[in-house]
Amino acid sequence: MSGMLLTRPRRLRRTSALRNLVAEHALSVNDLIYPMFVIPGQKTRQAIGSMPDISRFSVDLLIDEVGECLALGIQHFALFPVVGEDKKSLQGDEAFNPSGLAQFAVSALKEKYGDTICVITDVALDPYTTHGQDGIIDDSGYVLNDETIHVLVEQALSHARAGADIVAPSDMMDGRIGAIREALEAEGFVNTCIMAYSAKYASSYYGPFRDAVGSAGNIKGGDKKSYQMDPANSDEAILEITLDINEGADMVMIKPGMPYLDLVRRCKSECKVPTFAYQVSGEYAMHQAAFQNGWLDKDAVIMESLLAFKRAGADGILTYFAKAAATLLANK
Ligand code: PBG
Repeated sequence: MSGMLLTRPRRLRRTSALRNLVAEHALSVNDLIYPMFVIPGQKTRQAIGSMPDISRFSVDLLIDEVGECLALGIQHFALFPVVGEDKKSLQGDEAFNPSGLAQFAVSALKEKYGDTICVITDVALDPYTTHGQDGIIDDSGYVLNDETIHVLVEQALSHARAGADIVAPSDMMDGRIGAIREALEAEGFVNTCIMAYSAKYASSYYGPFRDAVGSAGNIKGGDKKSYQMDPANSDEAILEITLDINEGADMVMIKPGMPYLDLVRRCKSECKVPTFAYQVSGEYAMHQAAFQNGWLDKDAVIMESLLAFKRAGADGILTYFAKAAATLLANK
């Protein structure tokens, strides 16, 4: 070596000031969406065994928790209701009860915080069906597409009436975005946004979430492979995203997150739409397990994992680490 290397990539890595100057991506608190579990009752907070540091909150305590998050700068909240067995049925009709838990939580949060927060609701029937599937099933357990859409439309409308800023269909029925969009327009909810779970895979990383919402034990048929996507496929995600955008979705989501960052990149590059990713419960649980064992550096790995989403092209990230990341960003 002559000592005359013209290009030395390490020059730009020498000091943190230089590194900061050329950094292509950064995580901001504006990128964070905090998924939160809501339970009935009052003054109740329940820990979730497989999701350390995450709790289910009754609505009064949810309001306080959202206030704490807001003080850290988190503005976006995705709500997941956990209702009692007495509210569950074959058809999941509780999904569109105007005074149901999800609807009540949305209106209570919007009443308290107004447009300083953005509330995102989950549109799918699994919290409300006795069989744990996201839609209505036939005698064989097959989830019926068009029958389910009628209920999803009612559910999305009930969320919009309660004041949801964004409805997020996570059910993977064909054509549901178009049906929901038309119904929202017809009722005058022209500014209710739709964040479509467009590329939602039949993943085994959702286990802890199903614990959190109590649907783990009762998924009839054992899986959701007849409607959620096959992890073997990538082009199919582009088809799903294109369909959802054409049917009126404002934003799309890839789920799970880290094992599917290739899809985040493809979505951003090929479809050029607002792209979100969900770092799901299983990803959260495996990180926490490593942190608890002292195998990984908690703060550093949280930030690295979220920055990876930004580098892949995500405009925002649903993550159970939202509060931890916002705290780290605030103390930086
Ligand atoms: C259900 C829903 C699921 C998640 C979000 N919405 C689970 C499923 O499809 O079974 C998973 C989120 C997570 O694992 O963090 N409609």
